[in-house]
Amino acid sequence: MNNEKTHLLIIDDEVNYLLVLEALLKDAGYEVTALSDPETALAFLEDSEVDVVITDMKMPRVTGGEVLARVKKNWPNIPVLIMTAFGSIASAVDLMKQGATNYITKPFSNDDLLLAVQNAAELSRMHRQYRILHESLEEHYGKHNIIGSSHAMREMLSMVDRVAPSKATVLISGESGTGKELVAKAIHFASPRNKEPFVSVNCMALNPGVLESELFGHEKGSFTGAVAMRRGRFEQADGGTLFLDEIGELTPELQVKLLRVLQEHKFERVGGTTEIEVNIRVVAATNKDLLTLVQSGAFREDLYYRLNVVHIALPPLRERREDIPLLVAHFTEKSCKENELPLKSFSTEALNYLVGYEWPGNVRQLQNVVERCVVLVPGNVINLEHLPPEIRDEEAQFKSAVDLLPVELDLADTLERIEAALIRRALVRADFIQTNASKLLGISKSLMQYKLKKYGITGH
Ligand SMILES: Nc1ncnc2c1ncn2[C@@H]1O[C@H](COP(=O)(O)OP(=O)(O)OP(=O)(O)O)[C@@H](O)[C@H]1O
Ligand SMILES: [Mg+2]
Repeated sequence: MNNEKTHLLIIDDEVNYLLVLEALLKDAGYEVTALSDPETALAFLEDSEVDVVITDMKMPRVTGGEVLARVKKNWPNIPVLIMTAFGSIASAVDLMKQGATNYITKPFSNDDLLLAVQNAAELSRMHRQYRILHESLEEHYGKHNIIGSSHAMREMLSMVDRVAPSKATVLISGESGTGKELVAKAIHFASPRNKEPFVSVNCMALNPGVLESELFGHEKGSFTGAVAMRRGRFEQADGGTLFLDEIGELTPELQVKLLRVLQEHKFERVGGTTEIEVNIRVVAATNKDLLTLVQSGAFREDLYYRLNVVHIALPPLRERREDIPLLVAHFTEKSCKENELPLKSFSTEALNYLVGYEWPGNVRQLQNVVERCVVLVPGNVINLEHLPPEIRDEEAQFKSAVDLLPVELDLADTLERIEAALIRRALVRADFIQTNASKLLGISKSLMQYKLKKYGITGH
């Protein structure tokens, strides 16, 4: 083990003893500050980074108990190791209850001391690692990672701000790849529960029997293969947020069980009879239209309303095209950094095609396309010819779009919709310069203006 970076603060009023301890711990490779006056030691903590406090219990003015209380109050993550004389074990146990990490009784052997210090140092390291990990989680999943300045996205982000502090259940709906999981994590990390776990379950990935024990856990022997008791995701998420992805896939039996947890915050493990109480916030996501499932009887209405306390609907990317250039810039920069490449960029023409594309796979698909271009294109500028064929090839796009249309559609209405889509697309391609867009479409400027008015198309 590397003791070098661990900084110990030892407090003992017996100066000779203090010096012996200091020498011993320094020999073991620790950085040591030894102080005989507790007040000086507490003042020292104010502006130094200390990993472990080791304090004597009996001291004339300020006792070890007071040192412990003040350290726990101001620096709750610093482990405190208590040294106590033989015979005062009962009070040492009390101190453990008040948050001391451990105690050793005097006289102790060098090995006893070193072992206790090593354990406390390990605990301190774990606290530090946890903090770093947590900060990086927040860095990765905080709200600032959600890119978008469209009206819809700004509304959505302000909704995240408003719901995050509450315990309200949130239902996030949106097509695949629109960022549902990203938003769920942002809610968690902006909430007071952000130091507690964010636990995610995909309701579609598991068959119903396995999902039940995944969610609620099981008791030993509750079914063949249940060789030991297992805690479910509800228990793991206690204090934090449970993210139920693809909620539309829940079987009717599990819908009933979920409803009960949402109402009573209680459940039993599979095969168990003891009620388990949990404090969780549920965020659910679906790419289906839950209301349609309710109408067809596949989803319980009461559960729908329980989940739908706050509804965040993520619009598909093609309905907020003004976010596309921002997302492209964001993913390009990120991907160049990750691959240690100089910063690349998309040509205006290529970017216009990206803005005009339909993006059936939404932001995830856009992210993949950008990453692939960044890695595969040798130069610094990504041009139209580097884009995947499905984005470049208008003929193919047109055919596949027509193939997707239902046969019984009203012809005039369909043609109008196609016309409006083409006009929008031409505008995007022409950087919103109407004269150029009308040239692309081969129509006069006045006809163009008439059509823009007819379809209510404005600027962006
Ligand atoms: N607004 C956004 N800003 C930045 N990145 C985004 C945004 N929306 C989505 N992403 C990224 O796109 C990818 C897909 O997002 P996410 O997994 O949250 O989508 P989803 O809606 O849960 O999809 P699915 O329904 O397929 O599970 C992720 O890598 C996510 O980081
Ligand atoms: Mg998802």
